[in-house]
Amino acid sequence: MTEAQFLEGLSYAEDNFKNENAPHLHVDKKLIREKFDLTGKKILDFGCGMGGMSLWYATNWDCEVYALDIDGHHIDVAKSLQKKHNASNVTFEKRDVLETPLTEQYDMVFLNDVAEHIPLEILGKILSQLAFSLKKGGSIFVTYPPWRSPYASHLNHVIKTPWIQFFPQSYVEGLIEKHNHPLVGDLESDLKEAYHGLNKLTHEKIYKLASEAGLKVAYRKSHSIINRAGGPFKNINLRVWPFDFLVTKEFLQLQNK
Ligand SMILES: C[S@@+](CC[C@H](N)C(=O)[O-])C[C@H]1O[C@@H](n2cnc3c(N)ncnc32)[C@H](O)[C@@H]1O
Repeated sequence: MTEAQFLEGLSYAEDNFKNENAPHLHVDKKLIREKFDLTGKKILDFGCGMGGMSLWYATNWDCEVYALDIDGHHIDVAKSLQKKHNASNVTFEKRDVLETPLTEQYDMVFLNDVAEHIPLEILGKILSQLAFSLKKGGSIFVTYPPWRSPYASHLNHVIKTPWIQFFPQSYVEGLIEKHNHPLVGDLESDLKEAYHGLNKLTHEKIYKLASEAGLKVAYRKSHSIINRAGGPFKNINLRVWPFDFLVTKEFLQLQNK
């Protein structure tokens, strides 16, 4: 990772941490504040990336955060951000839980924009492990853009075409080639790898994996472009076809059955 990439990552993570209206996180932050009181809780931020949300949990509540990620570059940025903001109640670690399984139990596990990046067979194993790592009454909160979402390709910041993932793939590949650039990640080190790492996650797929892991859905919200209209549409969960194509993010609270 170059110095410039490191600094770019740091600035992105700091915005995610400090800015309540950070572009892809403002709905998440609002919902988490409304739904959960994290005071006194032991939290696992699974796939914490560069640590913006981990630090947000750690500084908005008096809680203990353990934040892990499989990508060493992301953890390096997260540790630097933690040092800058002097947060002592969060621990960052590079860890692959399939090699080094979790041994502790948590009140809350967050998978924020992580599940869609993990191959489905691995995601199933991780959910099983997380189910065993929950304290009694604990929850796993998963947020992700479902595959039918206009922005699920994760390419929107450079290729400003919604639903580009459904265009002919040879056309998409050409566009990616044209716009390809290095990313901070060690594993997903450019745009092309990041796009090909997506598992095309849908509610049906994650629901099946969660059920097989012994988890039930305690809460589900499908945040949609329609919610932006406000008034009676503000909280509506319109997720039946074809409105499911307007859902930008799914929020799922999972608990042991
Ligand atoms: C889009 S980032 C989200 C980061 C962070 N949760 C956030 O909201 O800013 C997805 C993260 O998932 C991590 N990840 C992917 N597979 C993983 C795995 N098997 N174990 C842990 N982290 C993983 C990636 O390395 C990456 O940092």
